[in-house]
Amino acid sequence: MKSLIEKLVTISSPSGREHAIREVIAGEIKPYVDEMKIDPLGNLVALKKGKSGRKLLFDGHMDEIGVVVTHVDSKGFLRVDSIGGLSPYMLLGSRLVFDTGASGVVDVEGETIKDLKETMKSLDYDHIFVDIGATDKEDAEKKAPVGTFGTYDSTFVDLGKRLVSKSMDDRIACAIMIQVLKELEKPEDDVYFVFAVQEEVGIVGASVAAFDIMPDMAVAIDVTAGPDTPKSFKRMGFNLGGGPTIKIKDRGSISSSRVVSRLKEVAEKRDIPTQYEVLIFGGTDASGYQMTGRGIASGTVSIPCRYVHSPHEMVDYDDVLNAVRLLKALAEEGVE
Ligand code: CO
Ligand code: ZN
Repeated sequence: MKSLIEKLVTISSPSGREHAIREVIAGEIKPYVDEMKIDPLGNLVALKKGKSGRKLLFDGHMDEIGVVVTHVDSKGFLRVDSIGGLSPYMLLGSRLVFDTGASGVVDVEGETIKDLKETMKSLDYDHIFVDIGATDKEDAEKKAPVGTFGTYDSTFVDLGKRLVSKSMDDRIACAIMIQVLKELEKPEDDVYFVFAVQEEVGIVGASVAAFDIMPDMAVAIDVTAGPDTPKSFKRMGFNLGGGPTIKIKDRGSISSSRVVSRLKEVAEKRDIPTQYEVLIFGGTDASGYQMTGRGIASGTVSIPCRYVHSPHEMVDYDDVLNAVRLLKALAEEGVE
């Protein structure tokens, strides 16, 4: 499964520009689904038919955080704004790739060390610029005009049990869902797989994706914090490698207790390690499903992930494999 993960995280597809990743995912799942469509917002929705008449929905967002060019100055330096929660501190020193193919490096304004210290205290996008190697304004506008989207440009690293790359959020969920589709032979319920757009800018795709499906249960799959690094969040107790987490709540939604207990039941029955997760910030596509139509019982299965929204997000491979087992088990056992 590692090569599938590498293939997905390597693609640059920020929110609102998901065509590249959608094409790759569609190609991967096509042989394994009964139906597949792209909705008007760009969500890729696939169906694997079951026998119970009930409907289960899995969601992973295929977009990633990024930047958009807002201005090109007279010397050819770019100014950018964030697409989703991309901290300017994370951008410093990183390399970017733009959807025109241009590459750039990020630096901060400031003439003296004193300037820099002052700017770094509360760094914002006003003080950051991107250098794409342009010789002047005209050259820069050819390579990356205003409105060009970009993402981190970083490579996938296999550390054995731990994997590192940009956009594990949320390509790791896309990989998990693709793997479930490949392995799933006889689901109990009709299982809908939604590869959603624009999660990072406000749960946009998920908020409409279920409208014409209206499933009996929706499970979002996303990364969550890896709160087990030095002096990290003391109020959260889950770990990398402890198993996928069953989310109790985050800032965006409280998981339906029916979803939590069904996931726990299935995990215990199949002997799959899981952890409970109470995230004291953040949100997932689950909040979009909850409020779709007449309301949908929704929850989240998460993959603990360190350094979320950095160019180097780290997950544990066993957590990934156990998430595949858990979702496959739920699809086989049914929503009940
Ligand atoms: Co995210
Ligand atoms: Zn995410």
